Amino acid sequence: MRVSAWSFFLSTFFFSYVQVTAVQLNLVGSKRESGLRSLYKRDGSGAFGNGSVALQNYQDLKYVCNVTLGGKDFPVIVDTGSVDLWVAGDVPGTNNLSIPMNITFGKGSAEGYINTAQMEFDGFMIPDQAYMNAIMVEDLASQPGTLGLGPSSVSTIRANLGNSSGDPPLDRIFRQNMTAPNILTFLLSRNATVEGPLVDQSFAQLTIGTMVPGFEAIQNEPKLPALIDQFDHVPAHWMTLLDPNGIIGPDGERINTTTAIQNPTNGTSDQLHVVLDSGFSIPQLPAYIVDSIYGRIPGAEFIENGTTLHPDLGSLVNVWRIPCEYEVNVSFVFAGQEYPVSPLDLSMDTQLPDVDAKRICIAFYQQLADNIAGNPEFGALDMILGMGFLRNTYTLFNFGDFVDGSPDNVADPYIQLLSTVDKAKIHHEFVIARLGGKDTTGSQPALLPAIQKPAVTSQVNGNATTDGSSSLNSLASLNAVCRVSRRRNRLRSLKC
Ligand SMILES: *[C@@H]1O[C@H](CO)[C@@H](O)[C@H](O)[C@H]1NC(C)=O
Ligand SMILES: *[C@@H]1O[C@H](CO)[C@@H](O)[C@H](O)[C@H]1NC(C)=O
Ligand SMILES: *[C@@H]1O[C@H](CO)[C@@H](O)[C@H](O)[C@H]1NC(C)=O
Ligand SMILES: *[C@@H]1O[C@H](CO)[C@@H](O)[C@H](O)[C@H]1NC(C)=O
Ligand SMILES: *[C@@H]1O[C@H](CO)[C@@H](O)[C@H](O)[C@H]1NC(C)=O
Ligand SMILES: *[C@@H]1O[C@H](CO)[C@@H](O)[C@H](O)[C@H]1NC(C)=O
Ligand SMILES: *[C@@H]1O[C@H](CO)[C@@H](O)[C@H](O)[C@H]1NC(C)=O
Ligand SMILES: *[C@@H]1O[C@H](CO)[C@@H](O)[C@H](O)[C@H]1NC(C)=O
Ligand SMILES: *[C@@H]1O[C@H](CO)[C@@H](O)[C@H](O)[C@H]1NC(C)=O
Ligand SMILES: *[C@@H]1O[C@H](CO)[C@@H](O)[C@H](O)[C@H]1NC(C)=O
Ligand SMILES: *[C@@H]1O[C@H](CO)[C@@H](O)[C@H](O)[C@H]1NC(C)=O
Ligand SMILES: *[C@@H]1O[C@H](CO)[C@@H](O)[C@H](O)[C@H]1NC(C)=O
Repeated sequence: MRVSAWSFFLSTFFFSYVQVTAVQLNLVGSKRESGLRSLYKRDGSGAFGNGSVALQNYQDLKYVCNVTLGGKDFPVIVDTGSVDLWVAGDVPGTNNLSIPMNITFGKGSAEGYINTAQMEFDGFMIPDQAYMNAIMVEDLASQPGTLGLGPSSVSTIRANLGNSSGDPPLDRIFRQNMTAPNILTFLLSRNATVEGPLVDQSFAQLTIGTMVPGFEAIQNEPKLPALIDQFDHVPAHWMTLLDPNGIIGPDGERINTTTAIQNPTNGTSDQLHVVLDSGFSIPQLPAYIVDSIYGRIPGAEFIENGTTLHPDLGSLVNVWRIPCEYEVNVSFVFAGQEYPVSPLDLSMDTQLPDVDAKRICIAFYQQLADNIAGNPEFGALDMILGMGFLRNTYTLFNFGDFVDGSPDNVADPYIQLLSTVDKAKIHHEFVIARLGGKDTTGSQPALLPAIQKPAVTSQVNGNATTDGSSSLNSLASLNAVCRVSRRRNRLRSLKC
């Protein structure tokens, strides 16, 4: 079944955009710390200087910027989980190479023809950037287009063109100026309109070849290895290793972790392989970890099918419901550094009532979709840390020799993460958003000794996709698997 619901979804997004703008500007104006004022001084394009692009945050569920093709702006999701550029719509002066192509995501797909056009992005100009002009888009609700920022070795466009003329935009940019550092950095904001007001209103930014001013300390963070995929023998994602038992659960104790990868060639068996994916809203973890995070919360309920909670939640499967006012603290540990996650990123307020008129909050960290877990086609990964994690860090990817055409001896690619979290602030934001400003977390009921899961688990289809996608495409395009979107502050779809 093919769905062309394009303009409908775009218009609903613009509707909610108009609704919240006034509130937003006000919050930004009053909450911003004076010391940060110059840091975020922007030029006409919304960026703070050369090498930076302002990202538009759509309700914490997607981060979008424009790329200019043939002089026309096209909104795209910035997606470190895929690698190719695609847009839909007429591109002035485009050169249609008439090569058909599909991009199959974990959920949904786009189909079209490979074209080349002049591209401007972030102050860089590429005269003949290859991209896919989509003519058919299936099941990618409200996705305007995608700027893939992953390693180019799994680019479908490059594979089709057979040489470097098919490289994705970042490789083209890095090759233009061999002396500029091959780095991509990004900062994802938290959206005050979702659960505000916030103590700090940060802005979402993406930079190429440079760093966001004020965040240069990221250079001193440990360099995490960017892994070559064990199953595919190429870099397939921005993937690295968590520390042994590297998740600190809500009780302050480490959760025991074991990789699902047999005979791992990277790391030890208690180190999970983590994909960092800016195009993926809901973090995906092994089910036993999700259970240890949420399953001991008093009042937590494991929901196999969201319909039992509310008719609008029919596409929700295998997810924990927790009391909205329950504060959950979790941290991830990479190379000995702790990266705390805001409690507002650990559960999501659907703003929908259950039959007893109680608000429904669901776990934002969810179990890996059935067809990704243990499926070698998606690569040798254990979990996907998407926006719900990346909002808590400033993230740097150094491409090293992941750039097409680089000699192997250039340098090893690596990842650096700088925590942007102040524990007292995120706690305070939770208290404001969920507890009406009155801090009762000190008296919230203690975690239960054992996980509260239904004794009989029926088989629910939690697959992210039903089509048989090729290995290459699946690898390149994990991003869309679990994208959610809200309409007028409600969940429109929440599918994994
Ligand atoms: C951007 O770079 C140009 C040329 O190098 C320079 O003239 C301009 O001042 C820079 N703009 C900012 C905001 O740094
Ligand atoms: C929050 O989301 C709304 C609607 O998607 C958007 O218009 C607004 O700019 C966002 N705010 C921030 C601070 O990103
Ligand atoms: C993208 O470009 C359009 C038209 O030029 C503009 O209205 C919009 O604000 C831009 N969006 C972003 C995220 O910069
Ligand atoms: C590109 O070429 C293909 C095949 O020749 C054609 O079917 C398609 O409509 C063309 N795309 C556009 C946007 O014109
Ligand atoms: C794209 O997918 C469609 C349907 O899934 C298939 O019929 C078509 O042959 C595919 N095209 C390419 C170029 O892979
Ligand atoms: C890439 O291959 C195409 C033919 O497929 C050829 O026309 C073009 O010159 C090649 N470009 C480079 C940079 O090798
Ligand atoms: C290349 O990058 C370096 C370092 O960022 C910069 O100084 C130089 O001006 C750039 N050259 C060009 C041609 O853009
Ligand atoms: C990880 O494993 C792959 C394949 O087994 C191997 O090629 C690579 O050198 C290892 N290390 C890194 C950092 O990727
Ligand atoms: C974690 O592993 C350690 C060492 O194997 C074991 O002693 C401990 O009981 C485990 N904890 C849990 C909660 O399973
Ligand atoms: C959830 O249950 C409803 C009603 O029984 C059903 O229509 C729907 O398909 C189920 N959802 C999933 C994902 O299985
Ligand atoms: C969560 O962490 C914050 C900041 O460290 C702390 O103030 C709060 O008490 C913690 N909440 C719980 C329930 O542990
Ligand atoms: C889910 O995926 C698995 C493995 O790909 C497959 O065996 C199973 O039949 C799928 N379930 C459904 C309901 O499609």
